[in-house]
Amino acid sequence: MSINAFGIDLGSSNIKIYNGIDDTYFMEKNMIAIEGRDSLFAYGDSAFDMYEKAPDNINISFPVANGVIADIKNMDTLIHYFISDLSHGSVRPADYYIAVPTDVTEVERMAFCDLIRDSNVKARRVLTVEKALADGLGMDIDVKTSQGVLVVDVGFDTTEISLLSLGGIVLSRLIKVGGLKFDEAIKATVRKEYNLVIGSKTAEKLKIAMREVEEQNKNAIVYGRDIVMGLPVEKEISTKLVFSCLKEHFDVIIDNIRQILERTPPELGADIYRHGIYLTGGGSQVGHLAEMISRSTGLGVNVNDEPIATVVKGLYTIMHESRFASLATSLTNGK
Ligand SMILES: Nc1ncnc2c1ncn2[C@@H]1O[C@H](COP(=O)(O)OP(=O)(O)OP(=O)(O)O)[C@@H](O)[C@H]1O
Ligand SMILES: [Mg+2]
Repeated sequence: MSINAFGIDLGSSNIKIYNGIDDTYFMEKNMIAIEGRDSLFAYGDSAFDMYEKAPDNINISFPVANGVIADIKNMDTLIHYFISDLSHGSVRPADYYIAVPTDVTEVERMAFCDLIRDSNVKARRVLTVEKALADGLGMDIDVKTSQGVLVVDVGFDTTEISLLSLGGIVLSRLIKVGGLKFDEAIKATVRKEYNLVIGSKTAEKLKIAMREVEEQNKNAIVYGRDIVMGLPVEKEISTKLVFSCLKEHFDVIIDNIRQILERTPPELGADIYRHGIYLTGGGSQVGHLAEMISRSTGLGVNVNDEPIATVVKGLYTIMHESRFASLATSLTNGK
């Protein structure tokens, strides 16, 4: 069913948009390339393609950092271009549903609404949705009737751990650990142990390939620059070593899950025990994380086939099913 509305998950790495007009999903890198002082050079996936390859006069950046809008001007530009592209050049008045992390300040929350209002996309209404509630719906949990649901969304800059019950958020914590920290740890370890300098994209590819490489009992092959010779080379990297360097970050996520569990009221704890933890977000797919969470907490861990899209799928549900409409809040700040 076509509706004049967009659902937006503004991730630190990927922007995901559900376009109600065409009933389609869209995902691109939440990135912008600016040439010189302020001339737009590229955006989205094309900006990402140039990342770590562009000359100094082209500045490529992520306007969302740690789950909140860090660079308002560039985020305005990006939203404007993405929505124009999705509207085939003629933007029509529409409602905007935007997912927002819970553990942020009121000013940071307002910035999501201001962004939509200021980016010239003809917003009729701007509604915010707690990101974890959208995640729950996107994983087919009826968040309005369920009690004691623990959702862990491991993204790029952040991990959000939230306890949901009866359509609300009981506890929530946003921590600065995610896929980016995993990539940085891999980069540092490869440099230290193999004298090899690799870029962020290579580190990310290595992280994603690890699971399969490990299953085949092989080592991973990466290209980089040898520190000693200063020349481009290819080296074999041990999967064991890569996983061992990720452990420190997994432990931070697990410690925070345990802290939330310790503060969970006992009746809700019993529900979590019965259903297990719901793990989602692109970063959650990293090898061994789900098993480690399960082992350290003694709880089952539910994973999803498409963890990158659970928030935006949840927004879809809120936009289409009237009984979930109350999960979207319209913020009025006099504008
Ligand atoms: N198969 C995979 N294995 C491991 N990591 C993966 C895989 N696929 C994607 N990722 C990681 O998922 C992360 C992006 O996930 P996601 O789109 O959920 O983050 P985000 O929503 O942009 O960030 P945040 O929620 O922190 O603002 C990246 O770090 C990426 O490397
Ligand atoms: Mg996210």
